[in-house]
Amino acid sequence: MIHINGATKLVGILGWPLSHTLSPYMHNAAFQSLGLNWAYVPLPTAPEQIKDAIGSLQTFNFMGANVTVPHKQAIMRYLDEIDSVARNIGAVNTIAIRHGKTFGYNTDCYGFLESLIEANFDPKGARCLILGAGGAARATVFSLAQAGAAAVAVYNRTVERAAFLVDDLQSEFGSVEFSFGSLTSEDLRVADHHFDLIVNTTSVGMTPAVETNPWPKDIPLPNAVVCDLVYNPLETQFLQQAKAAGLKTIDGVGMLVHQGAKAFEIWTGQSPPTDVTRRVVLKQLQVREKQTNE
Ligand code: ATR
Repeated sequence: MIHINGATKLVGILGWPLSHTLSPYMHNAAFQSLGLNWAYVPLPTAPEQIKDAIGSLQTFNFMGANVTVPHKQAIMRYLDEIDSVARNIGAVNTIAIRHGKTFGYNTDCYGFLESLIEANFDPKGARCLILGAGGAARATVFSLAQAGAAAVAVYNRTVERAAFLVDDLQSEFGSVEFSFGSLTSEDLRVADHHFDLIVNTTSVGMTPAVETNPWPKDIPLPNAVVCDLVYNPLETQFLQQAKAAGLKTIDGVGMLVHQGAKAFEIWTGQSPPTDVTRRVVLKQLQVREKQTNE
């Protein structure tokens, strides 16, 4: 049980909608485990309320907040300072408030790389295929390029968006071989040369559309490690397809847990017990899966 009193330090999450967020479970379990008098609350914020919401965080002496869909980009213009990783990615998912000033960070990047390390995948020199070109793809591509990937191919339903992302990051990472394409069978067949890692960053396959798969049915998956950032369900159609093909898979829980861990560190200066936070996330996902099947 968390005991909230006059000395409790507050953090929360700004997003819209927030009914499915797992972050309160994760952070409150970590506060409790470390005996910290902190609490993490959902702060549902409509797009037109985002500026006021930051002012309210300051008014109520919040220590910081996470930022999720759809505010990760829009929030940037209202912050006092933004760290270089978040600026390069063009998205903030964590705010810290110190002495009344707001600081923006992006911990998705760290979370993604940690999830690869945890799975013993070394991105250095790797050839990577990214499905999607939205905010999550941006953080993923940036992480891989910064970690020394040899090649990054970005394939997206809207091919112009993939081209834009590649164009944007190409100048910064001159040593990475960038390419782009669409998610059609024709393009992905062309992409059927050597890849070490394939990452789904799209929302395809997420509950409730669990039967959907970003990878076209008529094309075999290349021989690569397959990662899905979707964690609800834990085993997406895409990961099932990869497993059936005998490929190694990485689910989205590692990234969720580690982006949260980094945010926790930024706020509290302490490392959260990731075994505890992972356990509560997995338990919640199980509960939700059971509810869906009932
Ligand atoms: P996020 O910040 O979670 O990445 P986003 O910026 O809205 O969210 O990006 C969503 C991504 O999922 C995009 O790459 C989007 O493709 P488009 O750019 O073509 O919109 C992709 N996506 C969403 N629904 C999709 C679908 N049904 N089929 C294929 N891609 C889809």
